[in-house]
Amino acid sequence: MSATIINGKEVSQKCLDTIAQQVKNRAESGLRVPGLAVILVGEDPASAVYVRNKNAACEKVGFKSFSYHLPEHTTEQQLNNLIDELNQNDEVDGILVQLPLPKQINSQNILERILPEKDVDGFHPYNVGRLAQRIPLLRPCTPKGVMTLLRAYDVPVKGKNVVIVGASNIVGRPQALEMMLAGATVTVCHRFTTNLPEELSKADIVVVAVGKPHLVKGEWIKQGAVVIDVGINRLEDGTLCGDVEFDVAKERAAMITPVPGGVGPMTIASLLENTLQAAQLREQ
Ligand code: GUN
Repeated sequence: MSATIINGKEVSQKCLDTIAQQVKNRAESGLRVPGLAVILVGEDPASAVYVRNKNAACEKVGFKSFSYHLPEHTTEQQLNNLIDELNQNDEVDGILVQLPLPKQINSQNILERILPEKDVDGFHPYNVGRLAQRIPLLRPCTPKGVMTLLRAYDVPVKGKNVVIVGASNIVGRPQALEMMLAGATVTVCHRFTTNLPEELSKADIVVVAVGKPHLVKGEWIKQGAVVIDVGINRLEDGTLCGDVEFDVAKERAAMITPVPGGVGPMTIASLLENTLQAAQLREQ
């Protein structure tokens, strides 16, 4: 039987509707509109699209959005100065610096410059550490969005075998922490994993976040597994595809996310949730 196709757009829209309602409720109680600052450095076309989508989503839910587009040759000091200014700005609850950054800028230094309480990407070591210690505050957006999707489709996680393919700081590692927090038995596969098909054959839930088209073959998926594909790859003919061989995998999986329209919209929903949460945290 063919898998249920997980509709990330629909779940994301529900999250956005809830946030928009909360923004209205805040206004009625005399509370501020949450503010999100998004910084793009350089001309990476994919980053430009992501940033545009993030700003548009802010407008949709009624957040105040602050958008900065700095030139490719921006120095680390110049970016630090902007972050310092936004750290001090009381109208700004969240600061997001779109990655990757140009090579003259050390990304880690930049991520650590953002105040942890305004780190709506959840990338600051403070926030990653909180998640690792099971006391999460602001959680990395994509892994959080994946957990929201699983909950929306009533997929149980506790006690399940979860295999994560990819060990990046943005998705794979924080996803492993999220899954452990939810009570799963977690395996993280990466470039040095010797037998990926064997690892995947045991997975009740698979999360793939590598950035290589069709890296995971459909026949490696266990019958009845839930497949979450975080990859977004642009092929030479201009079409988008994920990291999983979707057409074959969907005949074995119980549920699967499409690309596009699966995890992508959830990352933005999590970002807006984090921004609202950051506003609430700063009011405590
Ligand atoms: N680049 C790819 N994914 C992300 C993300 O979630 N946040 C930021 N800031 N940059 C990214």
